[in-house]
Amino acid sequence: MKNNELILILDFGGQYNQLIARRVRECNVYSEVVPFDISLDKIKEKNPKGIIFTGGPASCYGDDAPKCDEGIFDLGIPILGICYGMQLMTNVLGGTVSRAEKREYGTTDVDIDNSSPLFKGFDSKNGFLMSHTDFVSSVPDGFRNIAYTDSCPNAGMENLERNLFGIQFHPEVNNSVNGIFVIRNFLYNICNCSGDWQISSFVDETVNKLKDKIGDKKVLCALSGGVDSSVAAVLVSKAVGKNLTCIFLDHGLLRKNEGDEVEKIFTEQFDINLIRVNCKERFLSKLSGVVDPEAKRKIIGEEFIRVFEEEAKKIGTVDFLVQGTIYPDVIESGLGKSSVIKSHHNVGGLPDYVDFKEIVEPLRSLFKDEVRKTGLELGIPENLVFRQPFPGPGLAIRVIGEVTDDKLDILKEADSIFREEIANAELHKSINQYFAVLTNLKSVGVMGDERTYDYTIALRAVETTDFMTGVWSKIPYSVLEKVSSRIVNEVKHVNRVVYDITSKPPATIEWE
Ligand code: XMP
Repeated sequence: MKNNELILILDFGGQYNQLIARRVRECNVYSEVVPFDISLDKIKEKNPKGIIFTGGPASCYGDDAPKCDEGIFDLGIPILGICYGMQLMTNVLGGTVSRAEKREYGTTDVDIDNSSPLFKGFDSKNGFLMSHTDFVSSVPDGFRNIAYTDSCPNAGMENLERNLFGIQFHPEVNNSVNGIFVIRNFLYNICNCSGDWQISSFVDETVNKLKDKIGDKKVLCALSGGVDSSVAAVLVSKAVGKNLTCIFLDHGLLRKNEGDEVEKIFTEQFDINLIRVNCKERFLSKLSGVVDPEAKRKIIGEEFIRVFEEEAKKIGTVDFLVQGTIYPDVIESGLGKSSVIKSHHNVGGLPDYVDFKEIVEPLRSLFKDEVRKTGLELGIPENLVFRQPFPGPGLAIRVIGEVTDDKLDILKEADSIFREEIANAELHKSINQYFAVLTNLKSVGVMGDERTYDYTIALRAVETTDFMTGVWSKIPYSVLEKVSSRIVNEVKHVNRVVYDITSKPPATIEWE
């Protein structure tokens, strides 16, 4: 990886920590989020060009305030403290942090001194997001004030001699319109970065590293057809060719034609050794009579592992198992102290069941949008790279009640029409997840002169960034009208279509 330049981000538990890392990478500098209590030796080993302290919910003078090793200020590495990071810097270096009577929140006019290298090129007033109660009431010796607002006397400070900077506002969020330039100034004017982080160099260097690591040994990958496992598989195949075998389980719960599409891309376009296991009957018989959503999930998860294990046994011992782990999984699984924890409910737990010696995780350092860029760089088709999230238990949790072959067929057709019309209306990039649900409800309708008694399809479409919360998408009536009319006309056994207008919370995105 051509990431010789590194910015370390010390995580003090703020909610925007990952965003800071992404913004730094958007400026073409590689960044890593690390726990606030990282040791000085570790920092020296990593040899960063600069360090950023994140914000955080604590008060720096509180008993359990997270604190970094104080020696960090003497390493000679430039540091930018954001919000709590600035307050901590102040507290440790002898300034004063006080508590305001009222919290300052919102985009606020900040007066800045643009002779500071941090604000080079800025107008003297800028709107930045402030979100704090504590504030720096007097800066430490050797520092000077470089920004203020009506209610915050020290919204920015610098010590040019020691290359230490603090800002009370959040440059990483979109509400801080020019915030990215503050970060850019820190990287380029203060840390003297040259900006060598690019996806194309990531691909080349990862392929080289994988070649060195794997050599001519055998690698196995569980391919789901999702973005992460697909990009990981193609990267590894670029490095080791036919020594990679991908196992793709088609449990019959994928969307219309999805199994064939995945097979086609990986065998025809990339010439990867792919074993497609068609095991629909096996899954459906296990699901027969099961109506409880959690029971369905459990059965599918267990059966998935069992089939994978059987297939892997046929191949015998492999040296490496590919996992599509991405950076947010690494950060969220306990490295940092952020209070936002995403629930992971992927089907899997594969490593325990497969005979392998080591795991390779080629995407471990990438954010989702970087995984997508990598996918495009590798030539993976756009529709796969920008595929919306699809749950591991697949359509089984979108057929309410018992899952049967007939019901799956109805749902696949209705869902495919919905997706097609969303794409025709060019809404597919603005709606983050959209799909059809086969409710277990039958109702009376009339077609021609005939009474019908058939299923109701529900349409679900949400706009969200984190999938933890989301709002229902305001799809134009004309599009909904077309979808509804096509579904009742083209899909047998459906005589009614409804649109789910519930946000999350209180509803979840999936119906089960
Ligand atoms: P909910 O329904 O909890 O979904 O609002 C949030 C996101 O997670 C996906 N989801 C799952 N993904 N296995 C998965 O791999 C599951 O069991 C599962 N349940 C929900 C859902 O599609 C949405 O993107």
